[in-house]
Amino acid sequence: MSRYVVTGGAGFIGSAIVRALLRAGASEVAVIDNLLTGHELNLDEVRGSIEFHRADIRNYDEIAGILRGADVVFHEAAIPSVPRSIDEPVPSHEININGTFNVLLAAKAGGVGRVVYAASSSAYGDTEVLPKVEAMITRPKSPYALQKLVGEYYCNIFSGVYGLETVALRYFNVYGPRQDPSSPYSGVLSIFMKSVLERCSPTIFGDGEQSRDFTYVEDVAELNLKAARAKNVSGNLYNAGNGGRITLNQAWALVQRLSGVEIPAKYGPPRAGDVHDSQADTTRAVRDLGHAPKFSFEDGMRRTLEWYRRAAAA
Ligand code: UD1
Repeated sequence: MSRYVVTGGAGFIGSAIVRALLRAGASEVAVIDNLLTGHELNLDEVRGSIEFHRADIRNYDEIAGILRGADVVFHEAAIPSVPRSIDEPVPSHEININGTFNVLLAAKAGGVGRVVYAASSSAYGDTEVLPKVEAMITRPKSPYALQKLVGEYYCNIFSGVYGLETVALRYFNVYGPRQDPSSPYSGVLSIFMKSVLERCSPTIFGDGEQSRDFTYVEDVAELNLKAARAKNVSGNLYNAGNGGRITLNQAWALVQRLSGVEIPAKYGPPRAGDVHDSQADTTRAVRDLGHAPKFSFEDGMRRTLEWYRRAAAA
């Protein structure tokens, strides 16, 4: 029987991994979350099937015992925002770098089988060529991008130096049900969903022609499970994206069409630290991990909109 630990398991992506594990038959799933950006509500329907620990990855002693003996740790706990890392660099650094270091130390000390790490495509920065390939030189443009990159390097070092198995997945703009739209630091598509439900204009930073490889959360959760099982991948890093590229203007047009609500967006100045274009080359993840994203952007957005509508009506 395998034991799984999901740090940040009450978050948007972490809770999707928890549900995917349970669907795949896992019987022992523990969640670590300090509820800073996560919500217990995200675990409502699975609460009886998991262990929940309100604990903080900044505190080694709080987490070491929970990680001990786990077969796989999915490390999702983070402050996941580029602008927040610019406005509040200290907590962002402490959680994203020191917290990750603690998780790796505790995993090593506790004999954990593998750590699957939530890395970020923001590490690439603005590359001259698209799509972005893992072998490209990284050019982080924000504290957040650098912090996530440091975590990747630490995973690689713990694998090479201490023999701890690690796999890093560079997420490309994950979206879907349960993404919290309530903060100015929220993911743009969750903000678009909230805008149509409340019938108010979103603000697009810049001209809206920047693009992202938006990736549906269930595809990312499935890839995490695959990364947990794959053989001979320790120390590696993989793009976790779809391979497509959608501009914000296109995304806003789609949200309006799917919802039947027409409102012009407002436009504001471009955001500091913003990458202009993001698109994953998925060759390596397909080859080594069997990555097979199932959701087109339109399918994913339709499901996401349905979820926000139901949540608003509840
Ligand atoms: C996102 C993730 C980050 C992840 C990275 C790579 C979030 C909150 N951040 O960063 O964790 O590592 O992708 O996968 O999901 N924008 C607007 N209006 C808004 C909000 C945003 O125009 O109200 C724009 C931003 O300027 C940016 C784009 O939308 O150009 C995407 O922003 P955001 O959703 O915050 O994600 P990233 O910064 O790309």
